[in-house]
Amino acid sequence: MNRVLLATAGGDCPGLNAVIRAVVKRASKERDWEVLGSVQAFNGILWEPSEVKVLDEHTVSGIHFKGGTILETTNKGGPFAWPVKNTDGTWSTVDRSDEMVRKLQYMGIDAVINIGGDGSQRISQALAEKGLNVIGVPKTIDNDLAVTDSTFGYQTAVQIATESVDKLVTTAASHNRIFVLEVMGRDTGWIALNSSVAGGAEICLIPEIPYDIDKVMERIYSRFRKDRGFVIIVIAEGAKRKHGEQSKEDTGEVGYANVKYSGAAARLVDELKEAGCPYDIRSTVLGHLQRGGVPLAYDRILATQFGVKAFEMVLEGKFGEMVAYQHPNITSVPLEDVITQHKYVEEDSDLVKNAKGVGISFGN
Ligand code: F6P
Repeated sequence: MNRVLLATAGGDCPGLNAVIRAVVKRASKERDWEVLGSVQAFNGILWEPSEVKVLDEHTVSGIHFKGGTILETTNKGGPFAWPVKNTDGTWSTVDRSDEMVRKLQYMGIDAVINIGGDGSQRISQALAEKGLNVIGVPKTIDNDLAVTDSTFGYQTAVQIATESVDKLVTTAASHNRIFVLEVMGRDTGWIALNSSVAGGAEICLIPEIPYDIDKVMERIYSRFRKDRGFVIIVIAEGAKRKHGEQSKEDTGEVGYANVKYSGAAARLVDELKEAGCPYDIRSTVLGHLQRGGVPLAYDRILATQFGVKAFEMVLEGKFGEMVAYQHPNITSVPLEDVITQHKYVEEDSDLVKNAKGVGISFGN
């Protein structure tokens, strides 16, 4: 019997369960393959005793439309930076990757499919360099992974952000207010840009185009006549002012390597007030609502295709590679290419130009 191990790693994302189901369903067409799932990314392997689930057609039945991941996930620690508590109460990390590779061999695992974003695919690449048969599946709502046109979960996040803009429009118009909506995306503005166009926001502030508060004010004034009017501003969590800094904080959580983006909307409200904005302003931080709930049909389809492809890559021995969508094909690319690049919104792209064409200001 051959064994493939699945892990879902990093932040959760709508569509993870559809990938898991697709791998299991495709594997069940082969007579001699068993699919296992490590609980909470690779923690399930690293824990003593290990926590691994057998995934069969019964286990994955009907999970394709469920958000989250039945395997659980984590964006803390991992095989290369396992948190350990020192005797003085402080924490440090140790590299347990060799131990994990040995354990996987002992468990008879022939291949690993690691479903995750850029951080997780860096782990995939490092494990591949240690000789593990790893295949990556790209996952992120941020859409910032290079070499794949898109990732599952992203369209769902854009839809949730767009519906939020729609809802804010009615209250903003009723109260003649400015509403600032902060959306996710780390160093990229894909969710902000797309939900601004879809929702008809007046101003869209993204990390790739640092804003000038006077230009933002100009667009605001253009929308008010004798104090009547309203404005929707969508701001990406990583957006910053020209010559300014992103709003980030170290959470202090043990083993959490990410910096937390937090406070962009609140900062913008302060900047607007300092710039003398005479209108009422309210802000909303959409946060993890963007990652929760049912995946859109588009994301379920992409996730299903990624799962089938990932298992077929196992059969073909395409290790050290990641599944990618390069329209119209579902293909594979070296993990090396994925971790050395980042996909940013280009200021001279058609979508930014067209957004400007319908009056969206980027504050520049
Ligand atoms: O990468 C996905 C993402 O949702 C980012 O958009 C966001 O900055 C981050 O994860 C939040 O991470 P956490 O779930 O650890 O708060």
